[in-house]
Amino acid sequence: MSKFMDWVDARFPATKMWEDHLSKYYAPKNFNFFYFFGSLALLVLVNQIVTGVWLTMSYTPSAEEAFASVEYIMRDVEYGSILRLLHSTGASAFFIVVYLHMFRGLLYGSYQKPRELVWVFGMLIYLALMAEAFMGYLLPWGQMSYWGAQVIISLFGAIPVIGNDLTQWIRGDYLISGITLNRFFALHVVALPIVILGLVVLHILALHEVGSNNPDGVDIKKHKDENGIPLDGIAFHPYYTVKDIVGVVVFLFIFCFIVFFFPEMGGYFLEKPNFEQANPFKTPEHIAPVWYFTPFYAILRAIPDKLMGVIAMGASIAMLFVLPWLDRSPVKSMRYKGWMSKIWLVVFCISFVILGILGVLAPTPERTLVSQICTFLYFAYFILMPFYTRLEKTKPVPERVTG
Ligand code: HEM
Repeated sequence: MSKFMDWVDARFPATKMWEDHLSKYYAPKNFNFFYFFGSLALLVLVNQIVTGVWLTMSYTPSAEEAFASVEYIMRDVEYGSILRLLHSTGASAFFIVVYLHMFRGLLYGSYQKPRELVWVFGMLIYLALMAEAFMGYLLPWGQMSYWGAQVIISLFGAIPVIGNDLTQWIRGDYLISGITLNRFFALHVVALPIVILGLVVLHILALHEVGSNNPDGVDIKKHKDENGIPLDGIAFHPYYTVKDIVGVVVFLFIFCFIVFFFPEMGGYFLEKPNFEQANPFKTPEHIAPVWYFTPFYAILRAIPDKLMGVIAMGASIAMLFVLPWLDRSPVKSMRYKGWMSKIWLVVFCISFVILGILGVLAPTPERTLVSQICTFLYFAYFILMPFYTRLEKTKPVPERVTG
Protein backbone atom coordinates (compact mmCIF):
# COMPACT_ATOMS: atom_id res chain seq x y z
CA MET A 1 0.00 0.00 0.00
CA SER A 2 2.76 2.43 0.96
CA LYS A 3 4.66 1.58 -2.23
CA PHE A 4 1.52 2.28 -4.20
CA MET A 5 1.07 5.62 -2.44
CA ASP A 6 4.72 6.53 -3.15
CA TRP A 7 4.04 5.80 -6.80
CA VAL A 8 0.91 7.99 -6.78
CA ASP A 9 2.56 10.79 -4.76
CA ALA A 10 5.39 11.00 -7.27
CA ARG A 11 2.76 11.83 -9.87
CA PHE A 12 -0.13 13.45 -7.97
CA PRO A 13 -0.16 15.22 -4.55
CA ALA A 14 -2.63 12.78 -2.96
CA THR A 15 -0.93 12.49 0.46
CA LYS A 16 -0.17 16.20 0.49
CA MET A 17 -3.84 17.04 -0.14
CA TRP A 18 -4.97 14.56 2.52
CA GLU A 19 -2.59 16.14 5.03
CA ASP A 20 -3.22 19.78 4.09
CA HIS A 21 -6.99 19.45 4.27
CA LEU A 22 -7.59 16.67 6.79
CA SER A 23 -4.94 14.97 8.89
CA LYS A 24 -2.75 18.06 9.33
CA TYR A 25 -5.41 20.73 9.06
CA TYR A 26 -5.57 22.05 12.62
CA ALA A 27 -8.99 23.36 13.54
CA PRO A 28 -9.81 25.11 16.83
CA LYS A 29 -10.72 22.60 19.53
CA ASN A 30 -13.81 24.52 20.68
CA PHE A 31 -16.15 23.96 17.70
CA ASN A 32 -19.76 23.70 18.87
CA PHE A 33 -23.20 22.72 17.52
CA PHE A 34 -23.13 25.41 14.83
CA TYR A 35 -20.03 23.90 13.26
CA PHE A 36 -21.92 20.80 12.13
CA PHE A 37 -23.63 22.58 9.27
CA GLY A 38 -20.67 22.95 6.88
CA SER A 39 -20.19 19.20 6.64
CA LEU A 40 -23.96 18.68 6.60
CA ALA A 41 -24.22 21.07 3.65
CA LEU A 42 -21.67 18.89 1.86
CA LEU A 43 -23.71 15.80 2.69
CA VAL A 44 -26.92 17.33 1.35
CA LEU A 45 -25.06 18.46 -1.78
CA VAL A 46 -23.97 14.87 -2.42
CA ASN A 47 -27.52 13.64 -1.76
CA GLN A 48 -28.92 16.13 -4.30
CA ILE A 49 -26.39 15.14 -6.95
CA VAL A 50 -26.78 11.38 -6.51
CA THR A 51 -30.60 11.38 -6.32
CA GLY A 52 -30.71 13.98 -9.10
CA VAL A 53 -28.69 11.78 -11.46
CA TRP A 54 -31.02 8.85 -10.82
CA LEU A 55 -34.15 10.97 -11.24
CA THR A 56 -32.83 12.23 -14.57
CA MET A 57 -32.76 8.61 -15.80
CA SER A 58 -36.58 8.45 -15.71
CA TYR A 59 -37.65 12.09 -16.05
CA THR A 60 -38.75 13.56 -19.41
CA PRO A 61 -38.07 17.28 -19.87
CA SER A 62 -40.99 18.26 -22.09
CA ALA A 63 -44.16 20.21 -21.36
CA GLU A 64 -46.26 17.26 -22.59
CA GLU A 65 -44.57 14.56 -20.55
CA ALA A 66 -42.80 16.10 -17.55
CA PHE A 67 -45.71 15.87 -15.11
CA ALA A 68 -46.57 12.32 -16.15
CA SER A 69 -42.93 11.26 -15.93
CA VAL A 70 -42.77 12.44 -12.32
CA GLU A 71 -45.94 10.42 -11.59
CA TYR A 72 -44.28 7.47 -13.32
CA ILE A 73 -41.21 7.89 -11.07
CA MET A 74 -43.44 8.04 -8.00
CA ARG A 75 -45.55 5.00 -8.90
CA ASP A 76 -43.70 2.66 -11.26
CA VAL A 77 -39.95 3.20 -11.08
CA GLU A 78 -38.34 0.95 -8.48
CA TYR A 79 -37.45 3.04 -5.45
CA GLY A 80 -38.54 6.03 -7.57
CA SER A 81 -40.71 7.57 -4.86
CA ILE A 82 -37.86 7.41 -2.34
CA LEU A 83 -35.46 8.94 -4.86
CA ARG A 84 -37.83 11.77 -5.60
CA LEU A 85 -38.68 12.49 -1.99
CA LEU A 86 -35.01 12.38 -0.99
CA HIS A 87 -34.43 15.02 -3.65
CA SER A 88 -37.43 17.24 -2.86
CA THR A 89 -36.87 17.04 0.91
CA GLY A 90 -33.15 17.51 0.27
CA ALA A 91 -33.87 20.87 -1.37
CA SER A 92 -35.56 22.19 1.78
CA ALA A 93 -32.96 20.54 4.02
CA PHE A 94 -30.24 22.30 2.00
CA PHE A 95 -31.70 25.69 2.82
CA ILE A 96 -32.29 24.85 6.51
CA VAL A 97 -28.67 23.72 6.81
CA VAL A 98 -27.29 26.66 4.84
CA TYR A 99 -29.35 29.21 6.82
CA LEU A 100 -28.00 27.78 10.09
CA HIS A 101 -24.50 27.75 8.58
CA MET A 102 -24.85 31.43 7.66
CA PHE A 103 -26.30 32.26 11.08
CA ARG A 104 -23.15 30.78 12.65
CA GLY A 105 -21.15 33.21 10.49
CA LEU A 106 -23.18 36.14 11.84
CA LEU A 107 -22.90 34.89 15.40
CA TYR A 108 -19.14 34.43 15.48
CA GLY A 109 -18.08 37.07 12.93
CA SER A 110 -16.67 34.37 10.63
CA TYR A 111 -16.96 36.79 7.69
CA GLN A 112 -14.54 39.27 9.25
CA LYS A 113 -10.90 39.67 8.25
CA PRO A 114 -9.21 37.42 7.06
CA ARG A 115 -12.25 35.33 6.01
CA GLU A 116 -14.00 37.86 3.73
CA LEU A 117 -13.49 35.68 0.67
CA VAL A 118 -14.77 32.58 2.47
CA TRP A 119 -17.97 34.56 3.05
CA VAL A 120 -18.16 35.97 -0.48
CA PHE A 121 -17.70 32.50 -2.00
CA GLY A 122 -20.40 31.32 0.43
CA MET A 123 -22.75 34.05 -0.79
CA LEU A 124 -22.05 33.09 -4.41
CA ILE A 125 -22.94 29.50 -3.48
CA TYR A 126 -26.14 30.81 -1.89
CA LEU A 127 -27.06 32.72 -5.08
CA ALA A 128 -26.32 29.70 -7.27
CA LEU A 129 -28.33 27.54 -4.87
CA MET A 130 -31.32 29.86 -5.18
CA ALA A 131 -31.10 29.70 -8.97
CA GLU A 132 -30.73 25.91 -8.79
CA ALA A 133 -33.78 25.52 -6.54
CA PHE A 134 -35.86 27.94 -8.62
CA MET A 135 -35.15 26.10 -11.88
CA GLY A 136 -35.59 22.68 -10.31
CA TYR A 137 -39.02 23.70 -9.13
CA LEU A 138 -40.26 24.18 -12.71
CA LEU A 139 -39.33 20.64 -13.70
CA PRO A 140 -42.32 18.70 -12.23
CA TRP A 141 -44.50 21.03 -14.35
CA GLY A 142 -47.19 21.37 -11.70
CA GLN A 143 -49.44 24.39 -11.24
CA MET A 144 -47.13 26.05 -8.70
CA SER A 145 -44.06 25.25 -10.81
CA TYR A 146 -45.63 27.08 -13.69
CA TRP A 147 -47.15 30.04 -11.89
CA GLY A 148 -44.31 30.50 -9.44
CA ALA A 149 -41.89 30.75 -12.35
CA GLN A 150 -44.33 33.05 -14.14
CA VAL A 151 -44.39 35.49 -11.18
CA ILE A 152 -40.63 35.49 -10.64
CA ILE A 153 -39.64 35.77 -14.31
CA SER A 154 -42.16 38.56 -14.87
CA LEU A 155 -40.33 40.56 -12.18
CA PHE A 156 -37.57 41.19 -14.69
CA GLY A 157 -40.22 42.98 -16.76
CA ALA A 158 -40.14 45.81 -14.20
CA ILE A 159 -36.66 46.79 -15.34
CA PRO A 160 -37.00 49.89 -17.56
CA VAL A 161 -36.26 49.71 -21.31
CA ILE A 162 -34.93 46.16 -21.49
CA GLY A 163 -37.48 44.53 -19.14
CA ASN A 164 -39.78 42.97 -21.75
CA ASP A 165 -37.00 41.69 -23.96
CA LEU A 166 -35.20 40.30 -20.95
CA THR A 167 -38.20 38.25 -19.76
CA GLN A 168 -38.64 36.87 -23.26
CA TRP A 169 -34.96 36.02 -23.44
CA ILE A 170 -35.13 34.14 -20.11
CA ARG A 171 -38.25 32.20 -21.12
CA GLY A 172 -37.12 31.69 -24.71
CA ASP A 173 -40.78 32.19 -25.61
CA TYR A 174 -43.67 34.65 -25.22
CA LEU A 175 -44.88 32.68 -22.23
CA ILE A 176 -43.47 29.90 -20.07
CA SER A 177 -43.44 26.84 -22.31
CA GLY A 178 -41.64 23.61 -23.05
CA ILE A 179 -38.74 25.71 -24.30
CA THR A 180 -38.38 27.31 -20.87
CA LEU A 181 -38.66 23.87 -19.29
CA ASN A 182 -35.87 22.53 -21.52
CA ARG A 183 -33.41 25.28 -20.73
CA PHE A 184 -34.20 25.17 -17.01
CA PHE A 185 -33.59 21.42 -17.13
CA ALA A 186 -30.19 21.90 -18.79
CA LEU A 187 -29.19 24.57 -16.28
CA HIS A 188 -30.53 22.64 -13.28
CA VAL A 189 -28.97 19.32 -14.20
CA VAL A 190 -25.67 20.35 -15.77
CA ALA A 191 -24.59 23.98 -15.56
CA LEU A 192 -25.52 25.04 -12.03
CA PRO A 193 -24.33 21.88 -10.26
CA ILE A 194 -20.91 22.41 -11.87
CA VAL A 195 -20.90 26.04 -10.73
CA ILE A 196 -21.95 25.06 -7.18
CA LEU A 197 -19.34 22.30 -6.94
CA GLY A 198 -16.63 24.65 -8.20
CA LEU A 199 -17.65 27.33 -5.71
CA VAL A 200 -17.67 24.84 -2.82
CA VAL A 201 -14.07 23.90 -3.69
CA LEU A 202 -13.09 27.59 -3.72
CA HIS A 203 -15.01 28.14 -0.45
CA ILE A 204 -13.08 25.41 1.34
CA LEU A 205 -9.73 26.32 -0.23
CA ALA A 206 -10.18 29.91 0.94
CA LEU A 207 -11.11 28.70 4.43
CA HIS A 208 -8.14 26.37 4.68
CA GLU A 209 -5.78 29.11 3.52
CA VAL A 210 -6.61 31.25 6.57
CA GLY A 211 -7.90 28.58 8.97
CA SER A 212 -11.25 28.20 10.68
CA ASN A 213 -12.72 30.74 13.03
CA ASN A 214 -14.31 29.51 16.30
CA PRO A 215 -17.00 30.49 18.82
CA ASP A 216 -14.52 32.71 20.68
CA GLY A 217 -13.28 34.43 17.52
CA VAL A 218 -9.72 33.93 18.81
CA ASP A 219 -6.85 33.46 16.36
CA ILE A 220 -5.40 30.04 17.29
CA LYS A 221 -2.32 30.61 15.12
CA LYS A 222 -0.99 33.11 17.67
CA HIS A 223 0.04 30.36 20.10
CA LYS A 224 1.91 27.42 18.59
CA ASP A 225 4.02 24.61 20.05
CA GLU A 226 7.64 23.87 19.05
CA ASN A 227 6.42 21.94 15.96
CA GLY A 228 4.38 24.89 14.74
CA ILE A 229 1.06 23.27 15.66
CA PRO A 230 -1.51 25.64 17.22
CA LEU A 231 -1.88 24.87 20.94
CA ASP A 232 -5.65 25.22 20.68
CA GLY A 233 -5.89 23.26 17.43
CA ILE A 234 -6.74 19.61 16.80
CA ALA A 235 -6.32 17.67 13.56
CA PHE A 236 -9.50 17.76 11.50
CA HIS A 237 -9.06 14.06 10.87
CA PRO A 238 -9.74 12.01 12.96
CA TYR A 239 -11.17 14.36 15.60
CA TYR A 240 -13.69 16.39 13.62
CA THR A 241 -14.45 13.71 11.05
CA VAL A 242 -15.59 11.53 13.96
CA LYS A 243 -17.47 14.39 15.62
CA ASP A 244 -19.17 15.27 12.32
CA ILE A 245 -20.41 11.67 12.02
CA VAL A 246 -22.50 12.28 15.15
CA GLY A 247 -24.07 15.31 13.42
CA VAL A 248 -24.62 13.25 10.26
CA VAL A 249 -26.41 10.47 12.19
CA VAL A 250 -28.74 12.89 14.00
CA PHE A 251 -29.37 14.79 10.77
CA LEU A 252 -30.12 11.62 8.79
CA PHE A 253 -32.48 10.43 11.50
CA ILE A 254 -34.56 13.63 11.26
CA PHE A 255 -34.20 13.82 7.49
CA CYS A 256 -35.33 10.22 6.87
CA PHE A 257 -38.21 10.65 9.31
CA ILE A 258 -39.46 13.55 7.19
CA VAL A 259 -38.82 11.74 3.90
CA PHE A 260 -40.72 8.64 5.04
CA PHE A 261 -43.55 10.18 7.05
CA PHE A 262 -44.03 13.88 6.18
CA PRO A 263 -42.46 14.52 2.75
CA GLU A 264 -44.96 17.27 1.95
CA MET A 265 -44.37 18.90 5.33
CA GLY A 266 -47.87 20.33 5.42
CA GLY A 267 -47.49 21.82 1.95
CA TYR A 268 -44.24 23.65 2.70
CA PHE A 269 -41.78 21.21 1.12
CA LEU A 270 -44.16 20.08 -1.64
CA GLU A 271 -46.92 22.59 -2.28
CA LYS A 272 -50.47 21.31 -2.78
CA PRO A 273 -51.18 22.98 -6.18
CA ASN A 274 -48.15 21.16 -7.58
CA PHE A 275 -50.04 17.86 -7.49
CA GLU A 276 -52.05 19.27 -10.42
CA GLN A 277 -50.50 19.58 -13.89
CA ALA A 278 -49.50 23.06 -15.10
CA ASN A 279 -52.36 24.82 -16.79
CA PRO A 280 -51.59 28.18 -18.46
CA PHE A 281 -55.33 28.99 -18.50
CA LYS A 282 -55.95 28.51 -14.78
CA THR A 283 -54.18 30.72 -12.25
CA PRO A 284 -54.04 29.17 -8.75
CA GLU A 285 -55.94 31.12 -6.13
CA HIS A 286 -52.81 31.97 -4.20
CA ILE A 287 -49.27 31.91 -5.60
CA ALA A 288 -46.41 31.70 -3.12
CA PRO A 289 -42.85 30.61 -3.66
CA VAL A 290 -41.37 27.74 -1.61
CA TRP A 291 -40.65 28.70 2.02
CA TYR A 292 -36.93 29.36 1.56
CA PHE A 293 -37.61 32.24 -0.84
CA THR A 294 -40.46 33.81 1.10
CA PRO A 295 -38.47 36.35 3.20
CA PHE A 296 -37.24 37.95 -0.03
CA TYR A 297 -40.66 37.64 -1.65
CA ALA A 298 -42.17 39.48 1.34
CA ILE A 299 -39.62 42.29 0.91
CA LEU A 300 -40.60 42.50 -2.76
CA ARG A 301 -44.29 42.78 -1.90
CA ALA A 302 -43.71 45.24 0.96
CA ILE A 303 -42.79 47.97 -1.55
CA PRO A 304 -45.83 49.21 -3.51
CA ASP A 305 -43.82 50.08 -6.64
CA LYS A 306 -42.86 47.00 -8.66
CA LEU A 307 -39.45 48.26 -9.79
CA MET A 308 -38.56 49.53 -6.32
CA GLY A 309 -39.68 46.19 -4.90
CA VAL A 310 -37.36 44.33 -7.26
CA ILE A 311 -34.51 46.68 -6.33
CA ALA A 312 -35.21 46.19 -2.59
CA MET A 313 -35.23 42.43 -3.05
CA GLY A 314 -31.89 42.55 -4.89
CA ALA A 315 -30.47 44.92 -2.29
CA SER A 316 -31.51 42.62 0.56
CA ILE A 317 -29.21 39.95 -0.86
CA ALA A 318 -26.50 42.43 -1.90
CA MET A 319 -26.31 43.60 1.74
CA LEU A 320 -25.22 40.14 2.81
CA PHE A 321 -22.40 40.22 0.25
CA VAL A 322 -20.88 43.39 1.68
CA LEU A 323 -21.37 42.37 5.31
CA PRO A 324 -17.61 41.85 5.97
CA TRP A 325 -17.07 45.54 5.25
CA LEU A 326 -19.99 46.78 7.32
CA ASP A 327 -18.88 45.20 10.57
CA ARG A 328 -16.28 47.52 12.12
CA SER A 329 -16.09 45.77 15.47
CA PRO A 330 -12.60 45.05 16.86
CA VAL A 331 -13.90 41.64 18.01
CA LYS A 332 -15.42 38.80 16.02
CA SER A 333 -17.60 36.69 18.26
CA MET A 334 -20.96 37.80 19.62
CA ARG A 335 -19.64 36.57 23.00
CA TYR A 336 -17.44 39.66 23.22
CA LYS A 337 -19.43 42.19 21.21
CA GLY A 338 -21.55 44.82 22.95
CA TRP A 339 -25.29 44.76 23.63
CA MET A 340 -26.16 46.74 20.49
CA SER A 341 -24.74 44.05 18.18
CA LYS A 342 -26.62 41.40 20.15
CA ILE A 343 -29.93 43.24 20.00
CA TRP A 344 -29.57 43.98 16.29
CA LEU A 345 -28.77 40.36 15.48
CA VAL A 346 -31.91 39.26 17.35
CA VAL A 347 -33.99 41.96 15.61
CA PHE A 348 -32.59 40.89 12.24
CA CYS A 349 -33.35 37.20 12.79
CA ILE A 350 -36.89 37.88 14.05
CA SER A 351 -37.59 40.19 11.08
CA PHE A 352 -36.25 37.56 8.67
CA VAL A 353 -38.51 34.87 10.15
CA ILE A 354 -41.59 37.14 10.20
CA LEU A 355 -40.91 38.12 6.58
CA GLY A 356 -40.64 34.41 5.76
CA ILE A 357 -44.03 33.75 7.35
CA LEU A 358 -45.68 36.76 5.68
CA GLY A 359 -44.26 35.76 2.30
CA VAL A 360 -46.27 32.54 2.42
CA LEU A 361 -49.56 34.26 3.29
CA ALA A 362 -51.86 36.23 1.01
CA PRO A 363 -51.31 39.98 1.53
CA THR A 364 -53.72 42.07 3.62
CA PRO A 365 -53.19 45.77 4.56
CA GLU A 366 -52.10 44.76 8.11
CA ARG A 367 -49.68 42.12 6.86
CA THR A 368 -48.22 44.55 4.36
CA LEU A 369 -47.61 47.04 7.16
CA VAL A 370 -45.84 44.41 9.27
CA SER A 371 -43.72 43.33 6.30
CA GLN A 372 -42.80 46.99 5.70
CA ILE A 373 -41.65 47.34 9.31
CA CYS A 374 -39.66 44.09 9.07
CA THR A 375 -38.12 45.16 5.75
CA PHE A 376 -37.07 48.41 7.41
CA LEU A 377 -35.50 46.52 10.33
CA TYR A 378 -33.82 44.04 7.95
CA PHE A 379 -32.04 46.88 6.18
CA ALA A 380 -31.39 48.83 9.39
CA TYR A 381 -29.37 45.88 10.75
CA PHE A 382 -26.93 46.28 7.86
CA ILE A 383 -26.98 50.03 7.32
CA LEU A 384 -26.48 50.87 11.00
CA MET A 385 -23.86 48.16 11.49
CA PRO A 386 -20.81 50.37 10.78
CA PHE A 387 -22.03 52.71 13.53
CA TYR A 388 -23.15 50.40 16.32
CA THR A 389 -20.20 48.03 15.89
CA ARG A 390 -17.77 50.97 16.21
CA LEU A 391 -19.55 52.80 19.02
CA GLU A 392 -20.40 49.98 21.39
CA LYS A 393 -18.17 48.84 24.22
CA THR A 394 -16.78 45.35 23.65
CA LYS A 395 -15.60 42.83 26.24
CA PRO A 396 -11.93 41.82 26.39
CA VAL A 397 -11.19 38.80 24.19
CA PRO A 398 -9.21 36.00 25.89
CA GLU A 399 -5.76 35.08 24.51
CA ARG A 400 -6.69 31.41 24.17
CA VAL A 401 -9.98 29.63 23.38
CA THR A 402 -12.20 29.13 26.43
CA GLY A 403 -12.83 25.40 26.19
C1 HEM B 1 -23.32 24.23 -0.57
C2 HEM B 1 -23.22 25.10 0.39
C3 HEM B 1 -22.07 25.17 1.36
C4 HEM B 1 -21.18 24.20 1.71
C5 HEM B 1 -21.11 22.76 1.22
C6 HEM B 1 -20.28 24.79 2.69
C7 HEM B 1 -19.24 24.11 3.29
C8 HEM B 1 -18.46 24.60 4.33
C9 HEM B 1 -17.55 23.83 5.12
C10 HEM B 1 -17.31 22.31 4.95
C11 HEM B 1 -16.99 24.67 6.02
C12 HEM B 1 -15.98 24.27 7.10
C13 HEM B 1 -16.73 23.65 8.27
C14 HEM B 1 -17.52 24.63 9.07
O1 HEM B 1 -16.94 25.65 9.47
O2 HEM B 1 -18.73 24.43 9.28
C15 HEM B 1 -17.51 26.00 5.80
C16 HEM B 1 -17.16 27.14 6.49
C17 HEM B 1 -17.70 28.41 6.30
N1 HEM B 1 -18.76 28.72 5.44
FE1 HEM B 1 -19.67 27.44 4.18
N2 HEM B 1 -20.62 26.11 2.89
C18 HEM B 1 -21.72 26.38 2.11
C19 HEM B 1 -22.40 27.59 2.04
C20 HEM B 1 -22.04 28.75 2.72
C21 HEM B 1 -22.75 29.99 2.66
C22 HEM B 1 -24.03 30.21 1.85
C23 HEM B 1 -22.07 30.89 3.47
C24 HEM B 1 -22.37 32.33 3.76
C25 HEM B 1 -22.75 33.19 2.92
C26 HEM B 1 -20.94 30.20 4.04
C27 HEM B 1 -20.02 30.77 4.89
C28 HEM B 1 -19.01 30.08 5.57
C29 HEM B 1 -18.08 30.67 6.50
C30 HEM B 1 -17.99 32.15 6.92
C31 HEM B 1 -17.26 29.62 6.95
C32 HEM B 1 -16.11 29.74 7.97
C33 HEM B 1 -16.70 29.55 9.33
C34 HEM B 1 -15.74 29.62 10.45
O3 HEM B 1 -14.55 29.32 10.27
O4 HEM B 1 -16.22 30.00 11.57
N3 HEM B 1 -20.95 28.91 3.56
N4 HEM B 1 -18.42 25.94 4.75
